[in-house]
Amino acid sequence: MSFHHLTQAHVPVSQLLLSKYNVPGPRYTSYPTALLFGDVDDPKRFFKDSKKSKAPLSLYFHIPFCASRCWFCGCHKLITTDSKMADVYLDYLEKEIALTLKSIDIDREVVQIHLGGGTPNFLNEDQTERLGKIIRSSFKIAADAEIGVEFDPRTLTHEKVLNYRDWGVNRASIGIQDCNPEVQQAVHRIQTTEQNLNAVSWLRSAGIQSLNLDLIYGLPYQTVESYADTLKEAISYDPDRFAVFSYAHVPWKQPAQKILEKHSLPSADLKLELLQLILETMQEHDYDYIGMDHFAKKEDPLVVAQNRKSLQRNFQGYSTHANVEICSFGISAIGQSQNVYRQNTKDLNEYYAMLDAGQLPIKKGYMLNEDDQIRRDTIMRIMCDMGLDYDKISNRWNIQFKDYFAKSLKALESFQQDGLVEIGNKAIQVTEAGRYFIRNIAMQFDAYLSQGPKGYSKTV
Ligand SMILES: C[S@@+](CC[C@H](N)C(=O)[O-])C[C@H]1O[C@@H](n2cnc3c(N)ncnc32)[C@H](O)[C@@H]1O
Ligand code: SF4
Repeated sequence: MSFHHLTQAHVPVSQLLLSKYNVPGPRYTSYPTALLFGDVDDPKRFFKDSKKSKAPLSLYFHIPFCASRCWFCGCHKLITTDSKMADVYLDYLEKEIALTLKSIDIDREVVQIHLGGGTPNFLNEDQTERLGKIIRSSFKIAADAEIGVEFDPRTLTHEKVLNYRDWGVNRASIGIQDCNPEVQQAVHRIQTTEQNLNAVSWLRSAGIQSLNLDLIYGLPYQTVESYADTLKEAISYDPDRFAVFSYAHVPWKQPAQKILEKHSLPSADLKLELLQLILETMQEHDYDYIGMDHFAKKEDPLVVAQNRKSLQRNFQGYSTHANVEICSFGISAIGQSQNVYRQNTKDLNEYYAMLDAGQLPIKKGYMLNEDDQIRRDTIMRIMCDMGLDYDKISNRWNIQFKDYFAKSLKALESFQQDGLVEIGNKAIQVTEAGRYFIRNIAMQFDAYLSQGPKGYSKTV
């Protein structure tokens, strides 16, 4: 079945399946997941291969500041209105870059840069310009590099957009979340249509080629009717891509989310209705479903890559860049190379102290063994291709797929009985109904869930 078939029909998923499969599970932006990363004593060990690697670079910069707290937020952020905090932070980003440059082969091109947060446009115009200069002067950036930034329309200005454009930013992601005033009030994120329209028109008129909008479903007071209006408004902004996230409720990690429990959160039933509405509305407006919350226009590079089965998944979501080394900077940022994950400390004071001591601020990490790498490849192909070709995995890793994953294939039989996958002799294909449960399907290939998936949000 081709990917396009997957977007053609909308299969009503029974209540029974929903309650059976709606369990906590990873989002697989990495495998093993960040919960398995261990403490790091010697950060340099986690750059062991980076000195000789020739893989192109993908850079991530985490700008953690936000001027106000959205109560649903699951990101690593610091709430402040003090712009001087960002000056100090930029000083330390500079230190971190200088230290990192000593640990990696820098004679490689940077093919992708992403600024995330928090809110990168918390930086004022001077700080935006300074960050651009720091990055440009430290790395060899490919002429056609994808350079993307996450923007909050509430604090964006036309000048900031022009500054970002001037140092090469060519992609933007805008946080919309929900357009309904009652929902906005309940989640403490008041954002007007005018702010959204301004952001879109500034970015488009500055020549930003690719625009993504973020929405969330599963927030208090959302109904099918209210969410249809939110989708209508968001689609009228004509973005190239949508990320429509299922609200991840993890109050043990994000205590402010408890505030949302005062209002009732949508039931799993309503969330499924919302998901079906989203899939239908996106299809009506010619956005293809990439998988795991992401949609894009047919001509978008993500859709092209998915059709070629070359799509990738990493900490920033889906990407077209394979075989890159991800170097990440700033608190909580996660880097990735062929067999290593490394994560910076999430604590701002510790980040500063480690850098003051001349130390890379890496706090957690993971070294993948061969089994991890085989399973990562398998899980990422499922998440990106909505299926698996046994021979491809067997050839890449010199294994017999069916033997290696005999236990996983056995476990998938009940998914087949439920109509979620088709298990063939040479391939597995996720069915239309199976798309809803893609995380559950991927979980069957995860070696670390036997103790029970702890600490994850629910899969639907
Ligand atoms: C760093 S923010 C984007 C930039 C900016 N801070 C903003 O909010 O506009 C990343 C995105 O993560 C999503 N997000 C945050 N918390 C979430 C949660 N608990 N569940 C699902 N999505 C969430 C939101 O859609 C948000 O736009
Ligand atoms: S959703 Fe964005 S603006 Fe809101 S608190 Fe989270 S990172 Fe900050």
